[in-house]
Amino acid sequence: MSITPPRRVWLTGASSGIGAALAEVLLKSGVQLAVSARSVEPLQTLEKRYPDQLLLAPGDLTDSRQVREIGERITQTWGSLDTVILNAGTCEYVDAQAFDASIIERVVRTNLLASSYCIDVALPLLRSGLQPHLVGIASSVTFLPLPRAEAHGASKAGMRDLFESLRIDLADEGIAVTLVSPGFVDPPQARQNDFPMPLRWSAEKAADHICEQLRQRPLEIVFPALFMAGLWPLSRRPKRPQPATGKSMAHTSGHGKGNP
Ligand SMILES: NC(=O)c1ccc[n+]([C@@H]2O[C@H](COP(=O)([O-])OP(=O)(O)OC[C@H]3O[C@@H](n4cnc5c(N)ncnc54)[C@H](OP(=O)(O)O)[C@@H]3O)[C@@H](O)[C@H]2O)c1
Repeated sequence: MSITPPRRVWLTGASSGIGAALAEVLLKSGVQLAVSARSVEPLQTLEKRYPDQLLLAPGDLTDSRQVREIGERITQTWGSLDTVILNAGTCEYVDAQAFDASIIERVVRTNLLASSYCIDVALPLLRSGLQPHLVGIASSVTFLPLPRAEAHGASKAGMRDLFESLRIDLADEGIAVTLVSPGFVDPPQARQNDFPMPLRWSAEKAADHICEQLRQRPLEIVFPALFMAGLWPLSRRPKRPQPATGKSMAHTSGHGKGNP
Protein backbone atom coordinates (compact mmCIF):
# COMPACT_ATOMS: atom_id res chain seq x y z
CA MET A 1 0.00 0.00 0.00
CA SER A 2 1.49 3.35 -0.99
CA ILE A 3 1.38 6.25 1.46
CA THR A 4 0.57 9.68 -0.01
CA PRO A 5 3.17 12.23 1.08
CA PRO A 6 1.87 15.42 2.73
CA ARG A 7 1.05 18.11 0.21
CA ARG A 8 3.50 20.93 -0.28
CA VAL A 9 1.65 24.21 -0.12
CA TRP A 10 2.79 27.82 -0.60
CA LEU A 11 0.51 30.32 1.16
CA THR A 12 0.99 34.09 0.78
CA GLY A 13 -0.28 36.64 3.27
CA ALA A 14 0.10 34.17 6.14
CA SER A 15 0.92 36.80 8.79
CA SER A 16 -2.63 37.97 9.57
CA GLY A 17 -6.35 37.67 8.88
CA ILE A 18 -7.60 34.97 6.55
CA GLY A 19 -4.04 33.88 5.67
CA ALA A 20 -3.03 33.33 9.30
CA ALA A 21 -6.22 31.35 9.89
CA LEU A 22 -5.63 29.32 6.71
CA ALA A 23 -2.09 28.56 7.89
CA GLU A 24 -3.44 27.13 11.16
CA VAL A 25 -5.98 24.90 9.42
CA LEU A 26 -3.46 23.69 6.83
CA LEU A 27 -0.74 22.97 9.39
CA LYS A 28 -3.16 21.07 11.61
CA SER A 29 -4.09 18.96 8.58
CA GLY A 30 -0.43 17.96 8.26
CA VAL A 31 0.70 19.71 5.06
CA GLN A 32 4.19 21.06 4.47
CA LEU A 33 3.65 24.84 4.32
CA ALA A 34 5.78 27.63 2.86
CA VAL A 35 4.57 30.96 4.24
CA SER A 36 5.12 34.46 2.84
CA ALA A 37 4.43 37.97 4.12
CA ARG A 38 6.53 41.03 4.87
CA SER A 39 6.17 40.70 8.67
CA VAL A 40 8.58 37.96 9.69
CA GLU A 41 7.62 37.66 13.36
CA PRO A 42 4.21 35.98 12.94
CA LEU A 43 5.78 33.55 10.49
CA GLN A 44 8.57 32.73 12.96
CA THR A 45 5.97 32.14 15.67
CA LEU A 46 4.33 29.58 13.38
CA GLU A 47 7.71 28.00 12.68
CA LYS A 48 8.32 27.53 16.43
CA ARG A 49 5.00 25.69 16.74
CA TYR A 50 5.37 23.60 13.56
CA PRO A 51 9.16 23.29 13.03
CA ASP A 52 8.93 20.14 10.91
CA GLN A 53 6.23 21.45 8.60
CA LEU A 54 7.07 25.10 8.02
CA LEU A 55 9.25 26.72 5.38
CA LEU A 56 9.83 30.41 6.03
CA ALA A 57 9.58 32.41 2.81
CA PRO A 58 9.15 36.05 3.85
CA GLY A 59 9.36 38.99 1.48
CA ASP A 60 7.60 41.87 -0.22
CA LEU A 61 5.63 40.24 -3.02
CA THR A 62 5.33 43.50 -4.94
CA ASP A 63 9.08 43.18 -5.57
CA SER A 64 9.56 40.61 -8.36
CA ARG A 65 13.19 40.05 -7.33
CA GLN A 66 12.15 39.05 -3.80
CA VAL A 67 9.47 36.78 -5.22
CA ARG A 68 12.07 35.06 -7.43
CA GLU A 69 14.24 34.55 -4.33
CA ILE A 70 11.28 32.96 -2.53
CA GLY A 71 10.79 30.68 -5.55
CA GLU A 72 14.46 29.68 -5.43
CA ARG A 73 14.20 28.87 -1.72
CA ILE A 74 11.18 26.62 -2.33
CA THR A 75 12.87 25.00 -5.34
CA GLN A 76 16.04 24.23 -3.36
CA THR A 77 14.13 22.89 -0.35
CA TRP A 78 11.26 21.00 -1.95
CA GLY A 79 11.75 21.07 -5.75
CA SER A 80 7.99 21.20 -6.33
CA LEU A 81 4.66 22.53 -5.08
CA ASP A 82 1.27 20.80 -5.01
CA THR A 83 -0.88 23.79 -4.00
CA VAL A 84 -0.33 27.54 -4.20
CA ILE A 85 -2.74 29.84 -2.35
CA LEU A 86 -2.26 33.49 -3.34
CA ASN A 87 -4.00 35.26 -0.48
CA ALA A 88 -1.78 38.32 0.19
CA GLY A 89 -3.68 41.48 -0.55
CA THR A 90 -4.64 44.95 0.53
CA CYS A 91 -7.59 47.34 0.34
CA GLU A 92 -7.84 51.12 0.31
CA TYR A 93 -11.00 53.04 -0.37
CA VAL A 94 -11.22 55.77 -2.99
CA ASP A 95 -12.77 59.20 -2.50
CA ALA A 96 -14.10 60.09 -5.96
CA GLN A 97 -14.26 63.80 -4.99
CA ALA A 98 -10.51 63.75 -4.38
CA PHE A 99 -9.55 61.03 -6.79
CA ASP A 100 -5.99 59.86 -6.28
CA ALA A 101 -4.59 57.44 -8.86
CA SER A 102 -1.78 56.46 -6.53
CA ILE A 103 -4.32 54.46 -4.50
CA ILE A 104 -5.26 52.46 -7.58
CA GLU A 105 -1.55 51.95 -8.30
CA ARG A 106 -0.77 50.65 -4.79
CA VAL A 107 -3.75 48.33 -4.58
CA VAL A 108 -3.31 46.94 -8.10
CA ARG A 109 0.39 46.41 -7.44
CA THR A 110 -0.30 44.35 -4.32
CA ASN A 111 -3.38 42.45 -5.43
CA LEU A 112 -2.78 41.92 -9.14
CA LEU A 113 0.89 42.44 -10.04
CA ALA A 114 2.25 40.67 -6.97
CA SER A 115 -0.05 37.74 -7.72
CA SER A 116 1.35 37.56 -11.24
CA TYR A 117 4.94 37.56 -9.90
CA CYS A 118 3.98 34.68 -7.62
CA ILE A 119 2.33 32.79 -10.49
CA ASP A 120 5.52 33.30 -12.52
CA VAL A 121 7.63 31.41 -9.98
CA ALA A 122 4.88 28.98 -8.92
CA LEU A 123 3.98 27.46 -12.29
CA PRO A 124 7.27 25.56 -12.88
CA LEU A 125 7.03 24.22 -9.31
CA LEU A 126 3.38 23.21 -9.76
CA ARG A 127 4.26 21.39 -13.00
CA SER A 128 6.43 19.08 -10.89
CA GLY A 129 3.76 18.73 -8.19
CA LEU A 130 1.07 16.16 -7.43
CA GLN A 131 -2.49 17.07 -8.50
CA PRO A 132 -1.37 20.69 -8.81
CA HIS A 133 -3.77 23.35 -7.66
CA LEU A 134 -3.52 27.13 -8.03
CA VAL A 135 -5.82 29.15 -5.76
CA GLY A 136 -6.42 32.90 -5.77
CA ILE A 137 -8.22 34.82 -3.04
CA ALA A 138 -10.21 37.43 -4.97
CA SER A 139 -13.36 39.09 -3.59
CA SER A 140 -17.13 39.16 -3.93
CA VAL A 141 -16.69 42.77 -5.05
CA THR A 142 -16.00 41.35 -8.54
CA PHE A 143 -19.69 40.40 -8.76
CA LEU A 144 -21.07 43.69 -7.47
CA PRO A 145 -19.32 47.06 -7.76
CA LEU A 146 -19.52 48.87 -4.42
CA PRO A 147 -19.10 52.55 -3.56
CA ARG A 148 -15.49 53.59 -2.90
CA ALA A 149 -14.24 50.16 -3.95
CA GLU A 150 -12.79 51.35 -7.28
CA ALA A 151 -9.22 50.31 -6.42
CA HIS A 152 -10.00 47.03 -4.67
CA GLY A 153 -12.68 46.12 -7.21
CA ALA A 154 -10.47 46.86 -10.21
CA SER A 155 -7.56 44.90 -8.76
CA LYS A 156 -9.72 41.89 -7.92
CA ALA A 157 -11.53 42.01 -11.27
CA GLY A 158 -8.10 41.89 -12.90
CA MET A 159 -7.20 38.95 -10.68
CA ARG A 160 -10.42 37.20 -11.69
CA ASP A 161 -9.63 37.53 -15.41
CA LEU A 162 -6.02 36.46 -14.82
CA PHE A 163 -7.07 33.29 -13.00
CA GLU A 164 -9.99 32.45 -15.28
CA SER A 165 -7.84 32.70 -18.41
CA LEU A 166 -5.11 30.67 -16.73
CA ARG A 167 -7.68 28.02 -15.85
CA ILE A 168 -8.36 27.52 -19.56
CA ASP A 169 -4.70 27.59 -20.55
CA LEU A 170 -3.50 25.26 -17.77
CA ALA A 171 -6.30 22.69 -18.09
CA ASP A 172 -4.34 20.46 -20.48
CA GLU A 173 -1.49 20.32 -17.97
CA GLY A 174 -3.85 19.16 -15.21
CA ILE A 175 -3.34 22.28 -13.07
CA ALA A 176 -6.65 23.11 -11.37
CA VAL A 177 -7.44 26.79 -10.76
CA THR A 178 -9.83 27.94 -8.01
CA LEU A 179 -10.97 31.49 -7.30
CA VAL A 180 -12.15 32.31 -3.79
CA SER A 181 -14.57 35.22 -3.43
CA PRO A 182 -15.10 36.16 0.20
CA GLY A 183 -17.67 38.63 1.43
CA PHE A 184 -16.80 40.52 4.63
CA VAL A 185 -14.34 38.72 6.89
CA ASP A 186 -13.27 40.18 10.24
CA PRO A 187 -10.48 42.67 9.69
CA PRO A 188 -7.45 42.58 12.01
CA GLN A 189 -7.81 44.52 15.28
CA ALA A 190 -5.54 47.27 14.00
CA ARG A 191 -7.78 47.88 11.04
CA GLN A 192 -11.33 47.84 12.37
CA ASN A 193 -13.79 49.32 9.90
CA ASP A 194 -16.59 51.28 11.47
CA PHE A 195 -19.05 50.92 8.63
CA PRO A 196 -21.55 48.09 8.60
CA MET A 197 -20.17 44.76 7.37
CA PRO A 198 -23.27 42.63 6.86
CA LEU A 199 -23.02 38.85 7.10
CA ARG A 200 -19.45 39.13 8.36
CA TRP A 201 -17.54 35.90 9.01
CA SER A 202 -14.61 35.35 11.32
CA ALA A 203 -11.27 34.59 9.67
CA GLU A 204 -11.35 31.16 11.33
CA LYS A 205 -14.77 30.33 9.88
CA ALA A 206 -13.64 31.54 6.45
CA ALA A 207 -10.45 29.46 6.62
CA ASP A 208 -12.33 26.29 7.66
CA HIS A 209 -14.79 26.80 4.82
CA ILE A 210 -12.10 27.47 2.21
CA CYS A 211 -10.01 24.43 3.21
CA GLU A 212 -13.04 22.16 3.27
CA GLN A 213 -14.16 23.33 -0.19
CA LEU A 214 -10.66 23.22 -1.72
CA ARG A 215 -10.59 19.42 -1.39
CA GLN A 216 -13.12 19.26 -4.26
CA ARG A 217 -10.89 21.53 -6.41
CA PRO A 218 -13.92 23.68 -7.41
CA LEU A 219 -13.78 26.48 -9.97
CA GLU A 220 -15.02 28.98 -7.41
CA ILE A 221 -15.66 29.30 -3.68
CA VAL A 222 -18.09 32.11 -2.82
CA PHE A 223 -19.21 32.94 0.71
CA PRO A 224 -21.39 33.75 2.53
CA ALA A 225 -24.25 32.59 0.35
CA LEU A 226 -26.47 35.61 1.07
CA PHE A 227 -23.73 38.25 0.74
CA MET A 228 -24.80 39.45 -2.70
CA ALA A 229 -28.43 39.83 -1.66
CA GLY A 230 -27.37 41.75 1.46
CA LEU A 231 -25.14 44.22 -0.37
CA TRP A 232 -27.14 44.67 -3.57
CA PRO A 233 -28.95 47.82 -2.29
CA LEU A 234 -25.60 49.54 -1.64
CA SER A 235 -24.58 49.27 -5.26
CA ARG A 236 -27.87 50.88 -6.37
CA ARG A 237 -27.49 54.08 -4.30
CA PRO A 238 -24.84 56.27 -5.90
CA LYS A 239 -26.20 59.38 -4.17
CA ARG A 240 -25.78 57.81 -0.74
CA PRO A 241 -22.47 56.09 -0.95
CA GLN A 242 -21.61 53.59 1.74
CA PRO A 243 -19.37 52.53 3.33
CA ALA A 244 -18.37 56.14 3.75
CA THR A 245 -20.13 57.68 6.70
CA GLY A 246 -18.95 59.06 10.01
CA LYS A 247 -15.35 58.44 10.90
CA SER A 248 -15.24 55.21 8.95
CA MET A 249 -12.53 56.23 6.53
CA ALA A 250 -10.40 58.21 8.95
CA HIS A 251 -7.21 56.18 8.97
CA THR A 252 -3.69 57.48 9.39
CA SER A 253 -2.91 57.25 5.71
CA GLY A 254 -5.99 59.33 4.95
CA HIS A 255 -7.47 56.42 3.02
CA GLY A 256 -9.65 53.81 4.61
CA LYS A 257 -8.45 50.24 4.40
CA GLY A 258 -10.75 47.27 4.54
CA ASN A 259 -12.43 44.65 2.46
CA PRO A 260 -13.91 43.37 0.30
N1 LIG B 1 -11.29 40.53 4.95
C1 LIG B 1 -12.24 40.66 4.01
O1 LIG B 1 -13.37 41.10 4.29
C2 LIG B 1 -11.94 40.27 2.59
C3 LIG B 1 -12.98 40.29 1.67
C4 LIG B 1 -12.73 39.96 0.36
C5 LIG B 1 -11.45 39.60 -0.04
N2 LIG B 1 -10.46 39.61 0.86
C6 LIG B 1 -9.10 39.23 0.42
O2 LIG B 1 -8.58 38.20 1.24
C7 LIG B 1 -7.17 38.35 1.34
C8 LIG B 1 -6.76 38.42 2.82
O3 LIG B 1 -7.42 39.52 3.41
P1 LIG B 1 -7.38 39.82 4.97
O4 LIG B 1 -8.62 40.53 5.31
O5 LIG B 1 -7.02 38.58 5.69
O6 LIG B 1 -6.21 40.89 5.00
P2 LIG B 1 -5.04 41.16 6.05
O7 LIG B 1 -5.39 40.64 7.40
O8 LIG B 1 -4.68 42.58 5.88
O9 LIG B 1 -3.86 40.24 5.50
C9 LIG B 1 -3.21 40.55 4.32
C10 LIG B 1 -2.01 39.65 4.23
O10 LIG B 1 -1.31 39.98 3.02
C11 LIG B 1 0.05 40.27 3.32
N3 LIG B 1 0.58 41.26 2.42
C12 LIG B 1 0.05 42.46 2.10
N4 LIG B 1 0.87 43.12 1.26
C13 LIG B 1 1.94 42.31 1.04
C14 LIG B 1 3.14 42.42 0.31
N5 LIG B 1 3.40 43.52 -0.42
N6 LIG B 1 4.02 41.41 0.33
C15 LIG B 1 3.78 40.30 1.07
N7 LIG B 1 2.67 40.12 1.78
C16 LIG B 1 1.76 41.12 1.79
C17 LIG B 1 0.01 40.79 4.76
O11 LIG B 1 1.25 40.60 5.40
P3 LIG B 1 2.32 41.76 5.71
O12 LIG B 1 1.58 43.01 5.97
O13 LIG B 1 3.06 41.20 6.88
O14 LIG B 1 3.16 41.81 4.48
C18 LIG B 1 -1.03 39.88 5.39
O15 LIG B 1 -0.45 38.66 5.77
C19 LIG B 1 -6.81 39.62 0.58
O16 LIG B 1 -6.39 39.28 -0.71
C20 LIG B 1 -8.11 40.37 0.54
O17 LIG B 1 -8.22 41.26 -0.54
C21 LIG B 1 -10.66 39.93 2.18
